Amino acid sequence: MSFPLDRPRRLRRREVFRRMVRETVVSVNDLIYPLFAVHGAGVSQEISSMPGVVQQSVDLLIKDAHEAAALGIPAVILFGIPAHKDATGSEASDDDGIIPRAVRALKEQVPELAVITDVCLCEYTDHGHCGVVEDGAVQNDPTVERLVAEALAHARAGADIVAPSDMMDGRVGAIRRALDADGFVDTVIMAYAAKYASGFYGPFREVVQSIPQFGDRRGYQMDPANAEEALREVALDLEEGADIVMVKPAMPYLDIIRRVKDTFHRPLAAYQVSGEYAMLKAASRAGWLDEDRVAIESLTAIKRAGADLIITYYAKEAARWLRHTGGVLP
Ligand code: PBG
Repeated sequence: MSFPLDRPRRLRRREVFRRMVRETVVSVNDLIYPLFAVHGAGVSQEISSMPGVVQQSVDLLIKDAHEAAALGIPAVILFGIPAHKDATGSEASDDDGIIPRAVRALKEQVPELAVITDVCLCEYTDHGHCGVVEDGAVQNDPTVERLVAEALAHARAGADIVAPSDMMDGRVGAIRRALDADGFVDTVIMAYAAKYASGFYGPFREVVQSIPQFGDRRGYQMDPANAEEALREVALDLEEGADIVMVKPAMPYLDIIRRVKDTFHRPLAAYQVSGEYAMLKAASRAGWLDEDRVAIESLTAIKRAGADLIITYYAKEAARWLRHTGGVLP
């Protein structure tokens, strides 16, 4: 059937029709809200390149998490800024480190939230790399040992989901075995499976002061040019026991999200990273983009591509917009 019998515009003419045939609607249940924890009390420091995003001490972080939960957001993902950074990132595996402290407080005071912890060393090392450095390079296997210790510290504190974001080989399997051996059989692993060496992480590295002191992360994060390799990374993480896999960043990698979903049919998360957020914020502040519209459009695109879950700095704002509009683009 073709024109004039087929007129696709018929179903676009009225909002009620558009509502009836809409294929993708972002829900608050899809959103994961990132939080940055620092030691101390009463601390809330805004990040210049990420308006609305703050590093905060646990007391204030709890308030923020309460607000997220009240909006219906199901989960938060925690990043920590340690008191001291050193060569092996010792605070990462300390039961009294910033993340275990934040997790215990959250589990006690906002029990309805699922608590996810980012498992990586870059926030904790003085050189800013995601692992143990020897001979000027990040060493895989010694790093995996440190990540296992970190994941266990998070699990002991009560983390529901641990999310390794380092891109070392074999870390998901090592973390799964260690969790099971210590009785944490129900702790979920959300693996940053296809994490690209992206320029879009710039603002995040300012927040956690993890800009590498030498070199860059191309020796362990993926080449933005590769898609087949992403499928292989995801296959490995699933074989090793990942429950949820992730593609990161999100918008520049929608093709990867779609291929991973179509290939594996497993729970899939996508991370709308700091640079993606900063671009939308900056252009909106300049009056060049309509913020709520482009933010919801981006989240819709990420979900349409195949993501079940979206980590986004827009989570709270998006939850409010979705509440008002029912997921319809403003
Ligand atoms: C690594 C980690 C990074 C992000 C999340 N986990 C940064 C990196 O690899 O440099 C980036 C998130 C963002 O840009 O929003 N622990």
